[in-house]
Amino acid sequence: MIERLNLIKNDAEKEIAVASSFEALNEIKVRILGRKGKMTQILRGLKDLAGEERAEAGKTANEVKNQLENLIETKTAELKQAELDKRLQSEKIDVTLPGLPLPVGGIHPISRVTDEIKAIFTGMGFAVAEGPEIETDYYNFEALNIPHDHPARDMQDSFYITEQMLLRTHTSPVQVRTMEKMAPQIPVKIIVPGKVYRKDDDATHSPMFNQVEGLLIDENITFANLKGILMLFAQKVFGEQVKVRYRPSFFPFTEPSAEMDISCVNCQGGGCRVCSYTGWLEILGAGMVNPRVLQFGGYDPEKVTGFAFGMGIERIAMLKFGINDLRLFYDNDKRFLTQF
Ligand code: DAH
Repeated sequence: MIERLNLIKNDAEKEIAVASSFEALNEIKVRILGRKGKMTQILRGLKDLAGEERAEAGKTANEVKNQLENLIETKTAELKQAELDKRLQSEKIDVTLPGLPLPVGGIHPISRVTDEIKAIFTGMGFAVAEGPEIETDYYNFEALNIPHDHPARDMQDSFYITEQMLLRTHTSPVQVRTMEKMAPQIPVKIIVPGKVYRKDDDATHSPMFNQVEGLLIDENITFANLKGILMLFAQKVFGEQVKVRYRPSFFPFTEPSAEMDISCVNCQGGGCRVCSYTGWLEILGAGMVNPRVLQFGGYDPEKVTGFAFGMGIERIAMLKFGINDLRLFYDNDKRFLTQF
């Protein structure tokens, strides 16, 4: 009996030692210590033995049973530890590795140029004003001295919401809106950046684009003030070497009106494809505020005068950065945008 017990013990010890999974270990446990297991059968058979032999076998059997139980317990703990080690190993994080960089956003070239223009004019004492993009016919046209049947409306066809409401075609309506709020205070000294809309769509025209308007009203404002301020502006944006010239033009809301050109940013005035071999590039419209517009805004043209100007921001950005297709600004192509 004792021999059989030792045999079972030796075999079991070897099996437990090499068991490599919980399943294998459990199988051994059931086979030896389970209800129908070898040890259990032996313990049950003890009652058939004679007195002394039974006592001794019983003692040994219990010892073997306890030893095996302990061995299984120890092995279970070992397997658990091994499993944990394996997980820790596979899920290990090296906190000293360099991090994964997230791409950072950038400032859109149109925003960049808008900010630059704002900084230049606020530096000269101008305030930044804004107005609605859905505008009334009155502010967009009438109050700017563009009556219903005026041919100047043809150049600024837009998206009408009703007969009397449209997506504004320029930032000029904010001139009169601001005058109405301020009259009769002077000076009125604002710039108006914002989105405008027209029925236009090609490489240099977009149905939505950005403008900056300027307006200065005070006593004794003359064309010389306009020239001085716009010269400074041109030099700040395009460099000290830039030259400017004015050509007579027509806008219903200014009188006299002019267009300002800068010397070509590409050839410095020599003549090239960018400036159509003229040496000059048109960048804005301007003029002395038409007395009628002053009146619409609530100012007395006998007491004050003013100048105004308006420019397309996309055009300034295209010239400044050497971009030849306006649509690139709206495509959201990162290869384009990350260059600024
Ligand atoms: N509003 C004009 C346009 O969009 C631009 C303009 C020209 C604005 C002359 C002005 C100005 O304030 O004086 O074509």
